[in-house]
Order: sequence, then structure tokens, then C-alpha cells
Amino acid sequence: QPRTQYSGDIAKLLLAHYDRHARALPWRSPPGTPPPDPYRVWLSEVMLQQTTVAAVFGYFEKFTKLWPDFAALAAADDADVMAAWAGLGYYSRARNLLKCARAVVAEHGGQLPKTSVELGKLPGIGPYTAAAIGAIAFGERAAVVDANVERVVARLFAIQTPLPAAKPEIRAAVEAITPSDRPGDFAQAMMDLGASLCSVRDPQCLLCPLQSHCAARAAGIAEQLPQKLAK
Ligand code: ADE
Ligand code: SF4
Repeated sequence: QPRTQYSGDIAKLLLAHYDRHARALPWRSPPGTPPPDPYRVWLSEVMLQQTTVAAVFGYFEKFTKLWPDFAALAAADDADVMAAWAGLGYYSRARNLLKCARAVVAEHGGQLPKTSVELGKLPGIGPYTAAAIGAIAFGERAAVVDANVERVVARLFAIQTPLPAAKPEIRAAVEAITPSDRPGDFAQAMMDLGASLCSVRDPQCLLCPLQSHCAARAAGIAEQLPQKLAK
């Protein structure tokens, strides 16, 4: 069977791997099933900005028990929300979380808008989070690029330009390989790959579902990418 370089192959291979190996996280729906509650996607993505999955678990459970939807959170006392957030850090996120919940209730009838453009106008939702929510909760073909995804893509295409100058090139590559079918699963599969096999120091290329499409692996330079401008 011939090997092709079509980006569609990358998505297919990665999604097939994700179907078997996706991390079961409380804000995810199982691979290939309908998307999770947008409220839970939004809450998790805000919590996961600058914070690890391991640290977020307990806070996510606590928040969804105390405030299961936008209406409940919008009606909460500021002090209660700040107290529940204590320990997660970056407290402007908690203030914006409340502002956003109240804007969703006041301006959007209690439901998140469904496009990344509209999502990006809400408090605390930057371009990354808007794309992530658009893809994961609403099936938008949005390019979701965090640091893990940057590393995977710099390696896949052997992008030698150092970060941060490489960002536009990396974003264009993510846009090119993101499928219109299951873009949310694809985004989370890329994140998972960067958080597991395609690690910073010791990429496990022989176990990687994308090994036959990876230019860095072929050139033997995976652990050297992405390059970073000396600080
Ligand atoms: N980091 C940010 N969003 C994430 C997600 N949906 N899954 C895993 N890690 C993430
Ligand atoms: Fe990363 Fe190696 Fe997979 Fe390439 S083959 S994406 S370097 S783990």
C-alpha cells in the first residue's frame, strides 16, 4: 500500500489511535461520540490555561457540583467562587470566569455562542480557548494550537524556524491537517500525543501513530525540535 503525504492521512491515523488511547477526562466525551456539555468544555479549558490536567481534576469536580451550569455560576457570590478557585492560581481567570458566565446569561440566553469568533469576544476567552471550545463543544474546524501541539507539528513537518518566529508556520500547518470531521477529537488527540509519546526530551517515535508521516523522525532530529530562540 503506497504511503501518501495527504494531511487527511495524519488525521485518520491520529483519530484511530485516539479511539483506542484517549485519556478519559471528566470534561471529555468518549472518542467519536457527541460532544460534551459546552459549559463543561468551557470550564475545563479555562482551568487548563496555565495549569496541568492533574491539578485541574479536583477543581473541576468541585465547580461542576457547586455550579452545574451557566445560570448557577452567574448567580453565585463572587467571594464563594474566588474561595473555590483558591489554589489554582492566576486569579484573573476566576474573575473572568464569573464575568463570562454572567455575559452568557445576560447576552446569550444562558448558552455559549457556537463559533470561535463569537466565543473570542467573551471575557477570559482568548484565541486558543475560543478555538478549543469551538472545536470540542461545537465541531468547528478550528486550529487548536498549544505548546504541546506546536512541538508535535514542528516535528511532523521538520520546521527548523525557531520559536516564537515559527508560530505562523506552525499554525498554518495545524490548519492544513485539522479535519472537518471530528475536529474536537483531533485537537485533543494532538494534545494527548504531545503530552505522552511526543515528549520534549524523549519522543517515543517507534510507538507513534504518525511515525510514517513524521519528517523529524525520518531525519533523526525529533528531540532537537522545536528550536527555540535563546533567551
Ligand atoms: N489542555 C487544554 N485543553 C485540554 C484538553 N481538552 N485535553 C487535554 N489537555 C488539555
Ligand atoms: Fe513526535 Fe516521533 Fe511521533 Fe514524530 S514520530 S510526531 S517526533 S513521537
